Amino acid sequence: MKVLIATQKPFAKVAVDGIKKVIEEAGYELALLEKYEQKEQLLDAVKDTDALIIRSDVVDNEVFNAAKNLKIVVRAGAGYDNVDLAAATTHKVCVMNTPGQNSNAVAELVFGLMVMAVRNFYNGKSGTELKGKKLGILAFGNVGRNVARIAKGFEMEVYAYDAFCPKEVIEAAGVHAVDSTEALFESVDIVSLHIPATPDTKESINYALVNKLHKGGILLNTARKEVINETELIKLMTEREDLKYVTDIMPVADAEFKEKFADRYFSTPKKMGAQTAEANINAGLAAAHQIVGFLKDGIDKFKVNK
Ligand code: 3PG
Repeated sequence: MKVLIATQKPFAKVAVDGIKKVIEEAGYELALLEKYEQKEQLLDAVKDTDALIIRSDVVDNEVFNAAKNLKIVVRAGAGYDNVDLAAATTHKVCVMNTPGQNSNAVAELVFGLMVMAVRNFYNGKSGTELKGKKLGILAFGNVGRNVARIAKGFEMEVYAYDAFCPKEVIEAAGVHAVDSTEALFESVDIVSLHIPATPDTKESINYALVNKLHKGGILLNTARKEVINETELIKLMTEREDLKYVTDIMPVADAEFKEKFADRYFSTPKKMGAQTAEANINAGLAAAHQIVGFLKDGIDKFKVNK
């Protein structure tokens, strides 16, 4: 059996070494395709692959067609919007993610970005503190919960909304649960987005919603660029000079954001949320173990397709 790691944005070496050990101890062979630039390279590499470990790499119908032996794809991470689940099911391929394994890394970056934003991107001007500020967490999954935990250390007042998580679970974590996305934006100074990219959430962060943020509001995005209505956000930030947008996923309109809002917009050049050795090891090893469990014993606990 052959397992391929295909990562445009590579794991830390220590994580690759760990994955190799797990795969080889199971009696399988590990192949590595890192930093590939052309889809053809991926199509070629998957030809004789039984199992695939990816990150945000796109796995679509064309990839499934090329991967005749493929049985399982594990997205080493949380979001699997990069995998065509229907095509996977048609090709009888099991798709899994590794929930929770990189969530602390993303949550820590949220605070790195948040401190930078309230300190005016370290431009020398007097900024503000996080202590006492109201933070809104949109979606209370693994990352959202870690953000809430860390926010308490900063003595922030934490609010959350999650369409799929009972209010009691949010309140039990010592967080104010509100009834809607609108109510969340209305209640806080800073919103941190942790929603997945789905047809329902696409461009859902729009003019009307962000306009509800308190004066001096900050929108933080470590989720997906697709959830932002960029045109409307640019319009709003043009009208409201108090708003800041800080993101770990470069918008399509990055150049326009930069030009128009030089002192209140920041994007990482490459998504960095999960890019720590620890997160790479956690998610990479989980992916390797899940592949071995699936191929040897049929365990499909984290399967996300039908
Ligand atoms: C995730 O969905 O797990 C995060 O967005 C991290 O993505 P990455 O593995 O591409 O950095």
